[in-house]
Amino acid sequence: MRATITSALLLGFVLAIMALAVSPPALAKASEAEQQAQAKALQAAQLAEIDKATAPEVPLIRSAQAAEEMISNQSNAEGLSPLWTAVREGQTGRTTSKSPFADSFINQYDFMLIEQRPGWLSKALTFSLFGMIVVFAVFVLVNGASKLEKGFSGVEVRRWSNVDIWVHWLMAIPCILLILTGLALLAGRWVFADWLGPQGLATLAAMAKPIHDYMALPFALFGVIAMLRWMKHNIPAGYDLKWFTVVGGYLNFGPFKGQHPDAGFSNAGEKLWYWSFTLFGLAIIVSGMFLLFPEALSTSRTDALWALLIHASAAIVITGFTVVHIFMATVLSEGGMVNMVTGYCDENWAKQHHNVWYDEIKADGSIEYKTS
Ligand code: HEM
Repeated sequence: MRATITSALLLGFVLAIMALAVSPPALAKASEAEQQAQAKALQAAQLAEIDKATAPEVPLIRSAQAAEEMISNQSNAEGLSPLWTAVREGQTGRTTSKSPFADSFINQYDFMLIEQRPGWLSKALTFSLFGMIVVFAVFVLVNGASKLEKGFSGVEVRRWSNVDIWVHWLMAIPCILLILTGLALLAGRWVFADWLGPQGLATLAAMAKPIHDYMALPFALFGVIAMLRWMKHNIPAGYDLKWFTVVGGYLNFGPFKGQHPDAGFSNAGEKLWYWSFTLFGLAIIVSGMFLLFPEALSTSRTDALWALLIHASAAIVITGFTVVHIFMATVLSEGGMVNMVTGYCDENWAKQHHNVWYDEIKADGSIEYKTS
């Protein structure tokens, strides 16, 4: 009997110990860990599936984005796996490869460069075209054109050679087409998508791309010829500063009205345009060649993205200046436009806007009047 009681007590003790060991909290912990392991395995399998299904057609970065979207659709941002979060934050690993960024699953640096396109670049380029047109149109409406004080003399003086006229238009027309198609390519998706819809946008991009590529070549060729031919006119002179202080006499109000600051063949404003055109034009041409011929110039994706950033930033400057230049030539400066059409300017225009140049050619006898 005693033995039976002792055995029963022992059995009870063992059972109590076992019950404590396999208690509900412990059971819960075990299943949580199991679930996490399963979830991680599932996410890893999903990522692998996406990469397998999309590579090589779609770059890794796109499949990674798709995976991120898929995961965040399933749960909230906190639900992302720690592995994925670390990858997105640019965590690096170890590899024997020496290529740049080979040690990270996703190249965060290139990703940061790519993001500048839909960010400030597309907005600044759009503003530099449409914004500048609006700003300058308002300025011309408020200020009015700069008139020839003594009217047209009817006597015409040679200003540009026929070669200069050809060079100007063979550079200017491609440049305008490059600006318009460049805007469509860079900012189309973020600026015009709502108006055009996906089909219209695709058609616009398909038309813009070949025009942009082919126009790059005449622009580069005639642009460089223009830079070289016209440099002599654009060497800074002492009187250029005064020109800026009175805004070239183009303002028709207050102390600026009726001012005619000294100017050589090119005035200070044209010199600023010429040097901006030369500096940023060369940046556009060189970076554009890297984008146009990546194989020949053996660029990496990171180099190509930098070329794109330089290209677009320089285009923003050139676009703004081009708008101002066209307004100045066509509406602001009375009698200026004809110069680049016939090569001759009115004698009164030369005296009023470029007095130093006019005095020089008169004094050295190189002045050439239009006959007949
Ligand atoms: C409709 C478009 C354009 C018009 C009506 C126009 C008109 C003119 C005119 C009339 C001149 C001569 C000014 C003078 O005699 O002082 C000129 C000069 C010049 N243009 Fe244009 N232009 C246009 C587009 C462009 C474009 C797109 C570029 C650049 C890519 C450009 C670059 C220049 C340069 C660099 C000069 C010479 C400035 C100097 O060295 O004095 N033009 N343009």
